[in-house]
Amino acid sequence: MEKFIKAALCATVLATTVSPVMAEDFPFEDQIEGRQGYFQMVKFNMGVLGAMAKGERDYDAKLAQAIADNLKNAALMDNALMWPKGSDMDAEGLSGKTKAKAAIWQEGSDIGEKHENWVAAVNTMAENAGQGVDALRGAIGPLGKSCKACHKEYKAK
Ligand code: HEC
Repeated sequence: MEKFIKAALCATVLATTVSPVMAEDFPFEDQIEGRQGYFQMVKFNMGVLGAMAKGERDYDAKLAQAIADNLKNAALMDNALMWPKGSDMDAEGLSGKTKAKAAIWQEGSDIGEKHENWVAAVNTMAENAGQGVDALRGAIGPLGKSCKACHKEYKAK
């Protein structure tokens, strides 16, 4: 919770202090690319764990642990700068470039909570991934759900 909210707050401060320059010269495209790249990396790592859980790839405790640790470390990143207020899909010039909904930054947004749930699911995965395929399978459902819960509210299809 704190982290995403802090992120949103930092972004708000940034946006209000530098926005006249930023809005014209840097229409948030670098930040958007950065956060999309981050999620592509997350997806790749998730895909390896998913394939093992489904039996499409042989279970390998060492690899599963390494991948789960990648996610755990990724979840520790402070990505505040990648989420400036105003970088949503409805912003001028950003249509087709981002799928981030404006609701992320609006009053009543619970994206911080969704992010916390995801971090918790990632940590559970890191505790289980190397403990056998059944342990990995038990952790992957809640992890996948934590991604979807956030996408459902805050990412366009
Ligand atoms: C707290 C919210 C949140 C969580 C949790 C979350 N996502 Fe996302 N995700 C987003 C948002 C918002 C976007 C849209 C970013 C944009 O287009 O600017 C996104 C975009 C993506 C994308 C598209 C990236 C691109 O190239 O455009 C992928 C893939 C993705 N997420 C995968 C995942 C996976 C896999 C998980 C779980 C392991 C996950 N996400 C968890 C909010 C979240």
